[in-house]
Amino acid sequence: MSNPKVSVLLKSNWAESGLVLDVRRGLGSQPRTLPPKWLYDEAGSRLFDQITRLPEYYPTECERTILRDAAADIVAASRATTVVELGSGTSDKTRLLLDAFADAGRLERFVPVDVSEETLRQAADMLAARYPDTSVEAVVGDFTLHLGHLAGYARKLVAFLGGTIGNLYVEERGAFLGALADSMTEGDELLLGTDLVKDADRLISAYDDAQGVTEAFIKNSLRVLNRELDADFDPDAYSYVPFWDRHMQRMDLRLRAEMPQHVTLPGADLELDLASGEEIRVEISTKFTEERLRAELGAAGLEIARIWTDPTDSFAVTLARKVG
Ligand code: SAH
Ligand code: AVI
Repeated sequence: MSNPKVSVLLKSNWAESGLVLDVRRGLGSQPRTLPPKWLYDEAGSRLFDQITRLPEYYPTECERTILRDAAADIVAASRATTVVELGSGTSDKTRLLLDAFADAGRLERFVPVDVSEETLRQAADMLAARYPDTSVEAVVGDFTLHLGHLAGYARKLVAFLGGTIGNLYVEERGAFLGALADSMTEGDELLLGTDLVKDADRLISAYDDAQGVTEAFIKNSLRVLNRELDADFDPDAYSYVPFWDRHMQRMDLRLRAEMPQHVTLPGADLELDLASGEEIRVEISTKFTEERLRAELGAAGLEIARIWTDPTDSFAVTLARKVG
C-alpha cells in the first residue's frame, strides 16, 4: 500500500479566493469578524501547538485524560473500521484512540482532514509509520466545504476533537452537523470533543495566558492578512481583549485598535477605517452543557450513545450515532 496517501481538495487559489470573500464579508461589516480557519498558517499551527502545552490551557490535557481512560470503551461501543479525524492538526491525542482501534485489530483506515497542509503531511507520515497495517488517507480539505468527500467511507467513526466545533457560530454548527450527518450512513458514529461551561476565571486564564502565546496566536491573523492580501495591519497597534460572554456561553477573543487605524487590503480591494477602541472579533470558543449538546446533535439526526468527562468535569467526549 502507498502509505500515506494525500488528497488535496483545496484549490490552489483557495487561500486567496476564500480569504477575500471572508474578509469582505467579515471585516467589511459590523461587528467585524474573521473566520478562525485563517488562524492556522504554519506560524499559527505552531502557536496552537504551544497553547496546548500551556499550564493554563486545560482542554488538551482533560481530553487526553478522557481518551486515555475511555479509548478501549469507545472501541468496544463502536462498530467502525475507518476512523476519520476532522481538524486533525498533529493528531497527537488521537493516537490514544488509534492505538485502541489497532490493538482490537479494527484500524483498517485512518483519514485525517485539515486545512493546514504542512502539519497534516507531517502527521500523516508519522501515523503511517506507527500503523503500518493501516491505510492512512490524508485529506487537505475544509470541513465546512468538503464533508461530501466522506460519504464514500463505510463503517466510519468521525472524530472531531479538541473542542474545535466551539469555534463555529451556532448557525455554522447547525450547517456543519447537518452536512456531516448527510455524509454518514445509519450506524456511522461521531466522536465529538467539547469544552464545558465552567467558572469565568478559569476560562479567562486559559485564553489569556501569562506568556502571551494566545495573544500571539490571535494577532497572527493580522499577519496572515498582511501576507496573503498585501494588507498593512500593524499588529502592535491592537490590544488583545479576551472575555467570557456569559449570555452566549462562549469565550470571545478580540483585537482592539488602540488608536484610529486606516488599513488597506489591496488583495481584497478593501480599505478599512477603524475608530479608536473599535474591535475585531477574531475567534469565539463556545462552551457546552449536556443539554445544548443533545439539542444540537439531535437537530442533525445524531443520537448520543455515551458521554465521557474528565475527573474535573471540565471537558466532554461524546459518542453519537446517526439514526435512520
Ligand atoms: N484536533 C487538534 C487540533 C485542534 S486546532 C486538537 O484537538 O488539538 C484546530 C485544527 O483545525 C487546526 O489544525 C486547523 O488547521 C484545523 N481547522 C480549522 N478550521 C478548519 C476547517 N475549516 N477545515 C479543516 N480544518 C480546519
Ligand atoms: C482549536 N480550538 C478548540 C481552540 C479553542 O480553545 O477554542 C483554539 C484556541 N484559541 C485560543 N486558544 C485556543
